[in-house]
Amino acid sequence: MEDIEKQAMTELADVKTRKELQAFEARFLGRKGLITLGLKGLKDLPKDRRKERAMVLNSLRKKLQDAIPAREAEIIRMETGEAAAHEHFDISLPGMSNHAGHPHPLTLVQEDIIDVFERMGFYVMDYPEVETDFFNFEALNIPKDHPARDMQDTFFLEDGNVLRTHTSAGQVRAMQELEPPFSAIFPGRVYRYEATDASHDNTFDQVEGLMLDHRISVANMMYYMQVLLEAVLKRKMTVRLRPGYFPFVEPGFELDIQCMVCGGKGCPVCKHSGWVELMPCGLVHPNVIRAGRLDPDQWQGWAFGLGMSRMVMMRYEIDDIRNLLGGDLRFIEQF
Ligand code: DAH
Repeated sequence: MEDIEKQAMTELADVKTRKELQAFEARFLGRKGLITLGLKGLKDLPKDRRKERAMVLNSLRKKLQDAIPAREAEIIRMETGEAAAHEHFDISLPGMSNHAGHPHPLTLVQEDIIDVFERMGFYVMDYPEVETDFFNFEALNIPKDHPARDMQDTFFLEDGNVLRTHTSAGQVRAMQELEPPFSAIFPGRVYRYEATDASHDNTFDQVEGLMLDHRISVANMMYYMQVLLEAVLKRKMTVRLRPGYFPFVEPGFELDIQCMVCGGKGCPVCKHSGWVELMPCGLVHPNVIRAGRLDPDQWQGWAFGLGMSRMVMMRYEIDDIRNLLGGDLRFIEQF
């Protein structure tokens, strides 16, 4: 009986794989294993030897029940260690997490705007970012020598075209393309030759709104602008109009909203006026309607231009516009 224990232990030390270990376990502890059979065979022994044999078998069973899992752990350690040596696989490295993409904050705001205006029957148009001088300036009542050209610093291309400085460039395209009466928005990217800082970038996004009909009113325009703001900022807005100058509208206005930080009482954000300038707008200038090949005696229009990048900043409380297109994933992943 001494022998069987010695034999078991040497064999166990030779076992190299988990498969071999299973076979070993079956051979000793299995239903037809040596120990099981040995215990069954006790009854055939003379009485005086039974007890001693039973003790030996039981003690061996106990030993193997501890030794087999211990050997298994060793084998696993050896196997992974060997795999690591062959595959240069560092099992201590953290796992790779799944990385799902998601819409950019600009896209989120643009989608909200499109959603609201589509439901009100507006076309959503997309126009070129490389634009002719005609659509970006001339057609908008800004002739070559007009001082208003200085209001926007322009990237001029070698072929005489420009990177559009505003989505207003789509106004006359829309008039030539769509049958009035119509209403449309055109969101898109615009470019300015700017020195950049926290509130200026050379590349940003606007949304233009344009409605053409036989009779158009400022009150009607204000309504749509208010709907737009409430769609993006998700709250009721108090707004007011102030006169403002833009060559392509007459009269032209600035739409202000009551300061959301102080509720109109006055604070540093609104420069203590209680109001924040948000959206220029106005009634489309007759020259612009003419450029659209329409008769200004028959057709009137309103137009607004919203700084979409600025809306994104207000909605998500972003304090530097350069974060939007800066490409830093640590920023983008917060949305
Ligand atoms: N296009 C102008 C700009 O980017 C903004 C603007 C002013 C748009 C008045 C309009 C408008 O539609 O009516 O500075």
